[in-house]
Amino acid sequence: MKTYFTEQTGFFGKSKPSRLLREFGSPLYLYNEAILRERCREMAGLISCSRFKPNYSTKANSSPELLKIIREEGFDADAMSPGEIHILLASGFKPEEILFVANNISTGEMEYALNKGVLISCDSISQLCRYGRLNPGGAAVVRFNTGIGAGHHEKVITGGENTKFGVNIELSGEVRAVLKEYRLRLVGINQHIGSLFMEAAPYVASVKSLLSVAEKFEELEFIDMGGGIGIPYHKQDGQKRMDLEDLGGRLSELLMNWAAVRHKDTKVKMEPGRYITAECGVLLGTVHAVKQNSSRTYIGTDIGFNVLIRPAMYDSYHDIEIYENDEIIKSDQKNVVTVTGNICETGDILAKDRELPPVMEGNIIAIMDAGAYGYSMSSNYNCRLRPAEVLIGMDGTPRLIRRRETMEDLMM
Ligand SMILES: Cc1ncc(COP(=O)(O)O)c(C=O)c1O
Repeated sequence: MKTYFTEQTGFFGKSKPSRLLREFGSPLYLYNEAILRERCREMAGLISCSRFKPNYSTKANSSPELLKIIREEGFDADAMSPGEIHILLASGFKPEEILFVANNISTGEMEYALNKGVLISCDSISQLCRYGRLNPGGAAVVRFNTGIGAGHHEKVITGGENTKFGVNIELSGEVRAVLKEYRLRLVGINQHIGSLFMEAAPYVASVKSLLSVAEKFEELEFIDMGGGIGIPYHKQDGQKRMDLEDLGGRLSELLMNWAAVRHKDTKVKMEPGRYITAECGVLLGTVHAVKQNSSRTYIGTDIGFNVLIRPAMYDSYHDIEIYENDEIIKSDQKNVVTVTGNICETGDILAKDRELPPVMEGNIIAIMDAGAYGYSMSSNYNCRLRPAEVLIGMDGTPRLIRRRETMEDLMM
């Protein structure tokens, strides 16, 4: 028996899918505040250590209203660009609560962060030198690559040999030399091994390795272990959640032992993105065509890869629900269909050869777990408009938090 996430969680609160689409347009990003807060609390309680405070990785979803809630839940934040720094500051984060995890940035971008009072993590010796020239005597952060990577697709594995990210830990002697040359104080080190893993082992191994780097730098104020904690995208088929108790327990033990030996009050950080926002987001759309081409049945929707690119970019899987008159279609009859968007590209596919109940024109389609790397990776490709974003509050009432784009926006 399949389980249906929106039904289990009462996702739509006081509203119905059809009413939401009528009011805010189709497609539509919907977020549920109760689920967002629950995920924040699970992550904030992951490690039993008073010096633990997670950073939310803004790249997963940078919607200002969600950022405000995440901050309220006690998170600091990571930014990947001056734009994300700007949005974080405007959403209430203080400069000292933000870490700019920078990759191949210009001098101007470094100056932007420095002028705002935001710490910059340098991910190459070359960038650390540039930073030293710009801010001699200042506080520095370095992103290390411990040689361990993990993730759901080769494109999102960010540790190990085949990635542009981080300074190899073997180069810590050179890091030390650059620090000395520019009188920099290394106040933090961070890493990120990749995105969406469901097992604790690679993460714990990489943290061990990062701690061995930390030993070499006396002035460290924080260690940031990175993000990547996975969520179950196959909930309809009963996929289990990642065992956070196991992960948290192993990390707590590791960090406690390390602190006991070091006698240091080093702060501990993480950079989760997906875990915080993926499951609080559902993407609603409309079926506009059902057609047969050769042996395939295509379900044509208004959810193109400009709206949700994960399936086209990483072959990602998302559970799908179909509604008729606001009821989930749960028919025993199943057809194998390919669900597509409205973009002029053959690769504009949401789900290939998926078993779904009979789908008809006019049905509403809902894509689960769309709150991370959904809107934040959307575009105007084909001059399509980005959808609105709506937050279903704690009392179940929907509230517009970002308006749908207009044709005029395409000219800006
Ligand atoms: C440096 C860095 N930190 C944190 C994250 C967040 O990862 P996730 O959303 O998988 O937790 C990413 C995403 O890839 C990243 O590149």
